[in-house]
Amino acid sequence: MKNVPVPRWIPELAVASKIEYKPIMKETTRQFINTPLAIGNREIPTRLILAPMSGLTHVAFRELVDRYGGCGLLATEMCSAKALPVENRHVSNVFKWRDAELPRLCCQIFGSDPETMVPAARRVEAEGFFGVDLNFGCSVAPICKKNCGAALLKTPDLAVSIVREIRRAVSIPVTVKFRTGWEDRIGPAVDLARRFEDAGADALTFHPRVAPDRRSRPPKREYIHHIKQAVSIPVFGNGEVFTMDDCEKMLEITGCDGISLGRIAVAKPWVFAHWSGKLEPDLNTHRESLLQMMDLLSDHFAPPTDIRKFKKLALYPAALFQFGHAFFNRMFRAADFVEIAHEINMFFNASPEPLARPNLNLFR
Ligand SMILES: Cc1cc2nc3c(=O)[nH]c(=O)nc-3n(C[C@H](O)[C@H](O)[C@H](O)COP(=O)(O)O)c2cc1C
Repeated sequence: MKNVPVPRWIPELAVASKIEYKPIMKETTRQFINTPLAIGNREIPTRLILAPMSGLTHVAFRELVDRYGGCGLLATEMCSAKALPVENRHVSNVFKWRDAELPRLCCQIFGSDPETMVPAARRVEAEGFFGVDLNFGCSVAPICKKNCGAALLKTPDLAVSIVREIRRAVSIPVTVKFRTGWEDRIGPAVDLARRFEDAGADALTFHPRVAPDRRSRPPKREYIHHIKQAVSIPVFGNGEVFTMDDCEKMLEITGCDGISLGRIAVAKPWVFAHWSGKLEPDLNTHRESLLQMMDLLSDHFAPPTDIRKFKKLALYPAALFQFGHAFFNRMFRAADFVEIAHEINMFFNASPEPLARPNLNLFR
């Protein structure tokens, strides 16, 4: 693992770092996670990948994940296919990357038809990304109203034609992220998974929830098993994998080829390195990663975007601790990064108690 640079915001008081976690991951699980996986004509080194998250998996956050040893595959935030062909990477807040991460970075696009999505996929290929990921899972109203994201699951023929046309247009891996659909039956999703594979998809990420649910009910992991059984391309399971135990259960119950980690990665950008056995975190890891996040946001975004992005993200690491909500509120009210750094240092100097299972269902 690379050396993690010392953050600019030096802690005010040194605290004894307390060992927070006991390694409990089975050796067989660890070995599995660390086994490379072929996706189309490429390969990823490990099987824990970053889930695309709008407002969160920006260039600064991805650099932080990389500082802690990276992950199997990075993901951008979802990018509008309509805008993408003319997007300027030096102006856009979402279609923005470091050249060094490109070979390990999937660009996620959303759109409503092949006519807009094919040119976007071509641009993704031309820029040198690892692959293009198609968003057929987002269920927020502004996206679904435009017939994008999970709305496409209502018109399977159209969704399949998008995959087919993009497959014809590019030679990089084409992956699809989708969910159960609009009714709680796995049959249509299994059928769609087969059709995505036939249309040329190289891997699937499946989130076993119906669209109106968003994250209000637990995901049905057994559904991932059905998807995995139906296709021969790699399947990544996704949904509420927050602990090592969740990770083991996800692999055992579903037989999936890898796991796409969302909110827990925002809470612990080192989670990939931790679970794959490359890093043993302590309380200072939490403090340090928040301070580093501020540094990286200042490097990549101008004020006030940098501080806004920090406040959006800080909810998740704060939710790992008792009284984390009060901690988050203090950071949220702070005027600038100097005040936020002060709050972070005060909080961690008091040796906060980590929660056994974080409540990350904060945004619906
Ligand atoms: C704030 C937020 C933004 C998200 N944005 C996207 C997105 O842009 N594209 C996408 O496919 N999924 C998006 N998701 C869904 C995640 O990729 C993931 O499927 C979901 O959070 C469940 O995984 P988790 O339980 O590991 O967080 C988003 C989730 C959150 C919490």
